[in-house]
Amino acid sequence: MINRQPFFDSKFDTKKNCQELANNIMPVDFDDYSDSYQELLNGTIWLSGEKADYFFDYKLNCIKRWILKNDQAVTILDFGCGIGKLAALIAQAYPQSTIYGYDASSKSIETAIGSLGQLKNLVFLNQLPTTQCFDLIIVANVFHHIKQEDRKQILLHLRSILKPDGTITVFEHNPFNPITVHTVKTCPFDAGVELIRLGQFVKLATRCDLRVCMERYIVFFPKFLRFFRVIETFLGFLPLGAQYMISLRKISKLTVYGSRPVN
Ligand SMILES: C[S@@+](CC[C@H](N)C(=O)[O-])C[C@H]1O[C@@H](n2cnc3c(N)ncnc32)[C@H](O)[C@@H]1O
Repeated sequence: MINRQPFFDSKFDTKKNCQELANNIMPVDFDDYSDSYQELLNGTIWLSGEKADYFFDYKLNCIKRWILKNDQAVTILDFGCGIGKLAALIAQAYPQSTIYGYDASSKSIETAIGSLGQLKNLVFLNQLPTTQCFDLIIVANVFHHIKQEDRKQILLHLRSILKPDGTITVFEHNPFNPITVHTVKTCPFDAGVELIRLGQFVKLATRCDLRVCMERYIVFFPKFLRFFRVIETFLGFLPLGAQYMISLRKISKLTVYGSRPVN
């Protein structure tokens, strides 16, 4: 585990970890891209007219608008944080919270620590805890890198480390958007990935006993149409956005006469 400050107390059981699982699962090794990630991303998203930072800011704004409205002392995991760009923005936007960035790529984590190590409420890990300790888990553009047959296992693992009333928020590419499909096809670190439709994600969530509490398409207009961006928040139902976001909560067990939970 790589962390800059003592934060894992006894409630974190580090005997089991997700690293082994992650190594078996990724078709692309992001260790090869840790130095060039942002540069490559900037090169492949040119059709949008924007740089990678636009998309990180966009996600942060989605989190502020729909997920975490106020700065509260909560514990947030950015699962598959890559080189930590989004995690850092979240840490700056929510100074009372503690943000943990985890990625299966240890080189990406090293890069993240090297460039963002000064943020006091941001901690990078190369191992996941195994107890229910997170209020919010963000998973940004990670699931399409996980093989279809392994997605349920990963989502169940994330569910298992979420607090009972916590939320998992997933951002994913929308395969209905032709610009997204073209971008993914030309992106070197997207080689061999399989995009996931929002409907497929809803089904996956249901299979993992997770309730969908919010789903919407996002990122509709490229830069040359930026004047229309003011109406984007009203278009969430339209399956044309370049990406989508979906928020999930644990399905609470019904209690009969206040006694035992019903399974
Ligand atoms: C496209 S990058 C996205 C990085 C970051 N979330 C962002 O938005 O820039 C996908 C990341 O997911 C990570 N990843 C893929 N499978 C993973 C797994 N099973 N466990 C943890 N990280 C994983 C990769 O190492 C990579 O850094």
